[in-house]
Amino acid sequence: MLTLTVNGQQKQVDVESDTPLLWVIREHLQMTGTKFGCGAGLCGACTVHLDGTAVRSCQTAAKDAVGRKITTIEGLGGNHPLQVAWVAEQVPQCGYCQSGQIMQAASLLSKNPDPSKAEIVAHMDGNLCRCMTYGRIQKAIVRAAADMRAKSGS
Ligand code: FES
Ligand code: FES
Repeated sequence: MLTLTVNGQQKQVDVESDTPLLWVIREHLQMTGTKFGCGAGLCGACTVHLDGTAVRSCQTAAKDAVGRKITTIEGLGGNHPLQVAWVAEQVPQCGYCQSGQIMQAASLLSKNPDPSKAEIVAHMDGNLCRCMTYGRIQKAIVRAAADMRAKSGS
């Protein structure tokens, strides 16, 4: 039995300690916003945050998330500036990769409120989209960053 802190709530899960965090989130906690893509750390569909840093949950053992703050797409709450910008820029096509894209972007904006285009491209580089929504993803990140700076008065 492991105790995990997911989106601010403590959860007890009866899993092997080396179970990938992705399966704990999806199968045991029934939080299906985090997606399974490759299962090999290559696509980013499974991206969540550990203590605010984007990680691939398919490559993270559940035991390594104990004592850390896990945030999933559900934890952004639906009105995060990135989610608002994603809607405004009509980013998704099939949508499958998008929760991972947003979580990857959220970790960037939490550390860099005004990223350059090159910084955005570099940070998002490992998150793949079969539908080729990359241009709209970049526009949405720029939009969300501006919105967040305006709200913070910086
Ligand atoms: S499912 Fe984890 S990186 Fe692809
Ligand atoms: S929107 Fe279809 S894979 Fe990205």
